[in-house]
Amino acid sequence: MTEPEDRYAMAQIDGDAELARLRMLEAINDPATERRLDALEVAEGWRCLEVGAGGGSVTRSLAARVGARGHVVAADRDPRFLQNLDLAQVEVIRHDITKGPVEPRGFDLVHCRAVLAHVTDFDGAAENLVASARSGGWVFVEEPDYGGCMEPCDPSHPGTEIFLHYLEGLRDGRRMDVDAGRHAYRSLRAAGLTDLTCEGISAIVEGGSFRARYRKFTMENVRDMAVGSGNYTTESFQRLLDLFEDPSFSYIDNLWLGVTGRVA
Ligand SMILES: C[S@@+](CC[C@H](N)C(=O)[O-])C[C@H]1O[C@@H](n2cnc3c(N)ncnc32)[C@H](O)[C@@H]1O
Repeated sequence: MTEPEDRYAMAQIDGDAELARLRMLEAINDPATERRLDALEVAEGWRCLEVGAGGGSVTRSLAARVGARGHVVAADRDPRFLQNLDLAQVEVIRHDITKGPVEPRGFDLVHCRAVLAHVTDFDGAAENLVASARSGGWVFVEEPDYGGCMEPCDPSHPGTEIFLHYLEGLRDGRRMDVDAGRHAYRSLRAAGLTDLTCEGISAIVEGGSFRARYRKFTMENVRDMAVGSGNYTTESFQRLLDLFEDPSFSYIDNLWLGVTGRVA
């Protein structure tokens, strides 16, 4: 793996497209997040911290769960899409989780999703998440994990070669920690959390489906970089985009690992 410069900057795309991408990410991941929040029994009056709150869907869900007596801090290194949340119990702050805890021992629940994969100091950020939760409070982290799981369902499909090329690019470690899910488990364990659980969820994705179009959309927005770098020709790049629309092609998606644990 190459040493990352700023994976977060490399993973971003421009303006409106980034918000559209975040909305797709939310639509894909919110159902699992909601189930896990149900299991944690987030209750009225809790103080919650959402780190890397992005487009704000989990912040809104937490706000509904904690009610008017509760409080939710939505922290993001770049909070530009959180400004119009307009909920009395929500406070939006600009905060880089690699720089320190948000409020030491201040929260009943600290959650983040798809954030640690892109930070340069993963273990430091995980320690800061843990340090933001009160004694007995929960830390809940959801991150993608690409090691071994993501692959075409049918290796004899003519699209396999370009898809494997795409996977190789994803796994080069420049835009994210591709083992972020298991890394989160290791980091939170090392930070001393108790009652640790880690469960994964994946899916078979067909070309033309919403999840395939999420990948197509992300790639379309980095076309110039991908072709300009010589990693794709114009023609091979188009083949990849077309593959994400081809219902005869399917793949097992990356794992999303959800780690929960309590501060002693
Ligand atoms: C891929 S988005 C995920 C958004 C949201 N968590 C979700 O899953 O819908 C990553 C978010 O983390 C934020 N982020 C990246 N690095 C961060 C850091 N070091 N501290 C706080 N937020 C960060 C980004 O600005 C972005 O909003």
